[in-house]
Formats: sequence, C-alpha cells, structure tokens
Amino acid sequence: MRHFLDLKDFSADSLQTMLDDALRMKSAQKSGTVHEMPLAGKTVAMIFEKPSTRTRVSFEVGIAQLGGTPLVLSTNDLQLGRGETVEDTARVLSRYVDAIMIRCFKHETLFTLAEYASVPVINALTERSHPCQLMADLMTMIEYHGPLAGQTVAWLGDGNNVAVSWIEAAVLFGFQLRIAGPQKYAPPADLLAWAWANGGDIILTDEVGLAIDQVQNVVTDVWISMGNDEGSRRTDFAPFQVNADLMKAAAGDVIFMHCLPAWRGMEVTAEVIDGPQSVVFDEAENRLHVQKAILAWCVGSN
Ligand code: CP
Ligand code: NVA
Repeated sequence: MRHFLDLKDFSADSLQTMLDDALRMKSAQKSGTVHEMPLAGKTVAMIFEKPSTRTRVSFEVGIAQLGGTPLVLSTNDLQLGRGETVEDTARVLSRYVDAIMIRCFKHETLFTLAEYASVPVINALTERSHPCQLMADLMTMIEYHGPLAGQTVAWLGDGNNVAVSWIEAAVLFGFQLRIAGPQKYAPPADLLAWAWANGGDIILTDEVGLAIDQVQNVVTDVWISMGNDEGSRRTDFAPFQVNADLMKAAAGDVIFMHCLPAWRGMEVTAEVIDGPQSVVFDEAENRLHVQKAILAWCVGSN
C-alpha cells in the first residue's frame, strides 16, 4: 500500500523522484501545458481534527487539478467525533474513496488509520511529524540553492513536529541541520538516536550564534503549536527569535523559511519574514505542487 506517513519510510531516491515530479508539474502549470489527470474519477477524503489553511486549500485545489474530487471531513461532522473507532472509520471510508489524507493529534491515529485502510493514507500533520510540509520546504531549497546534499540549515526554536520531519530529511538527503533551542524542548530522543546512528549531520546546541554562522537556510516555526499549553514558552524561546541582527551572521544568499502560520514579533520579526530573504510564500505555494506529486505517487501513477 502506497501510504505517505513519514519521510524516513522512504529512500532519498524515491522522495527525490516526487520532488522532481513536483518541479515539473509546477513549471507545466505555469506554462499552461495540459495537466496530467491521475485522479480522474477518484475521490480523496481529507480528515481534519485540527484547523488548517494551507493544507486544506492546497490539497483540495491539488486534488481538483489532478481531476479528482476532494471530500473535506472535520472530525466534528464524522461519527469519529462521537467515539466511532479509527479502525471502523478506515474500513468504511476505504469502501467509498481512493485515498485518505488526515491531520490529527496522535501519531498513533495515523498509524491505525493506515493499518485498517485499504487505500493510501497521507499524513497531513500529527503531533509527531509534518512530512508534506518538509517536501514543500525541500522543493523550495532546491529552487533557491540547488541539490540538497551538502547544504546547511539552521532550525531555531521548538523541537516540534516540523523539526522531526526536518531531521528525517537531513538524514536522507545528507544536508547539515543545526538545531538551536532550549534543551527542554529538544526533538524526541529516539529520533535523534536514529538520526545519529544513520550518519545524520545533526547538531544540537543552545547557542544561536553557532547555528546561524554562515548558514544557507534559516527555519523556524511557532513556539506554541496546536495542542500545546503556552506555559513558559514565550520566555523560554525568546533568545531564539529570528531577527535582522541574527540574519547578518548567515551566508550572503541565506533564505528564511517558515511553514506558516507565523506569529510576527515572537519566533520571527516582521522585518525578516516580510523582508527580501524570506521565501515563506514560495514554500506555501510549493505545498500545492509537491502534494500533487505525492497524490500521484499514492495512486500509482509515478
Ligand atoms: N503549514 C501548514 O501546514 O499550514 P496549515 O496549518 O494552515 O495547514
Ligand atoms: N508546529 C505547528 C505547525 C503548523 C503548521 C503546529 O503543529 O501547530
């Protein structure tokens, strides 16, 4: 079954093929070339336990552009929200639709859905990871800096779901990832152990200067993710804010990335996110193109 659950389930070559397809689909679309329709006659269910702007719209538009029918299902509208099991939901939906995308809290829910579904399942964010976001970010890095191997990336802030997918990508594609944040918010220990055991060039530090020095790609994310309590997060993360002063120590052609939504004045200043080094809207656009390539792979057409 062609599930898209986590980057580390794939080889770099197979992800690179999807990225190449996404780049090709993007340029075909921009030049008005007739589009491939691998989802013609197919329906894709999109389950949301949490809010979304980019994921919902880019998947819904992408499915339509590939000739398919998107079906948006909030858990409040499903019997799942009243206690029907994930197992039964997976089995029932599989009788109607050709693929299922899910954004949910527990990573376990994603795995259970994938185990009991007889159609491909796509991870559209869990508390653990956000692989579709990373595919868009990798595509953006390629557009600005070329091949991924050997690039340098600084991740500032929370070792959250997006950071997890960054770590998996760094190991697979062979770029250096410098993670700077408070120790108590470090990424999961099991993932770091896997990354280092597999030769990942992952540096963990609480010194922002070390992470930023001549780096080509700077990335951050919100300090308070969906489902997090605020607690002391604002003060804990304050030293890791991306601001113009900090960006001066990066490489001359540095780009600034953020999966969005962003909280200006917290993890990044308006000057940086709205400035010339920021590529955040390219990242957002690339969600559309790369998810089309992922969907095409899921239904077996590439
Ligand atoms: N980056 C991202 O996944 O955004 P949404 O929460 O708006 O989908
Ligand atoms: N880390 C963020 C990403 C949002 C796209 C969250 O989980 O809320």
